[in-house]
Amino acid sequence: MTLQAAVSSPFDLADEDAYQAWRRRKLATAPTRSDELMVEVEDPLRLTADERAAIVERCERANMAVYATSPRPEHGSEIPRAVGAQLGLRTLDVNYLADDDGITPLAATESGPRSTFIPYTNRAIRWHTDGYYNPPERRIRAMILHCVQRAESGGENHVFDPELAYIALRDADPALVAALMQDDAMTIPSRSEEGDVARGDQAGPVFSVTEDGHLHMRYTARTRSVAWKDDPAVRAAGAQLLQLLDHDPRVLRLRLEPGMGIVCNNVLHDRTAFTDSDAHRRLVLRARYYERIRSPRSGETESSA
Ligand SMILES: [Fe+2]
Repeated sequence: MTLQAAVSSPFDLADEDAYQAWRRRKLATAPTRSDELMVEVEDPLRLTADERAAIVERCERANMAVYATSPRPEHGSEIPRAVGAQLGLRTLDVNYLADDDGITPLAATESGPRSTFIPYTNRAIRWHTDGYYNPPERRIRAMILHCVQRAESGGENHVFDPELAYIALRDADPALVAALMQDDAMTIPSRSEEGDVARGDQAGPVFSVTEDGHLHMRYTARTRSVAWKDDPAVRAAGAQLLQLLDHDPRVLRLRLEPGMGIVCNNVLHDRTAFTDSDAHRRLVLRARYYERIRSPRSGETESSA
């Protein structure tokens, strides 16, 4: 029985004690305002130990942080790459629309192959986690959105920690969580999404627990190009989730200014529509990784490099 304690997981629906203990800690420390996520950074290419610790602390608490620094457009994709590397993020998910270095510039595009995919338009993007159409071996555990230029108006992001979504559903009814943990809860039909023209249907759970014991969420609020399991519990859970994302006061709103970026363990996010001008043509660099953000305490350190 003591052995059981060593492998207990808050995400095990049979382990109410582990869940309640974790839930209490989580709710006591979850940020309620977006400025709680903010970390001012002097040089993103060389974070100080304090800056890095502050980013990691927010990621441990909220699965996300926002760094802010003066704009350095001349460094381009070097910045998100360097920020990622200093947080233990090394393996980029490369899709065929990404530039050669695996970091994707998101901007409204009039023509070419990108223009048919929503991220490369100025239209609103509904709630999702990144890479929900990826196969399990390309699961996106973390990502960075680095703002080079903002739009004239709009282009804001709302963000929500998947762990809070999990808690809301489990508190309402653990059966809702169980429904979304089914291996066939949500299927993305083949050839429907950005960057993956040649893949087959991707069926999978919404909530899963990774090998290292973390909660992973795979989700899109899109109604086209997604097939939910024909199951009353899955339908009820999906409706509750959408209700939560539309109304929960802990949903945070972010407007990235040039030089700012979101670094996160692939949290739920959306994007509002935007309008560009000659002076403000929105450009956000996106990097997606297979690793989670790692505490400098638990990995090799680069702070003296
Ligand atoms: Fe996204």
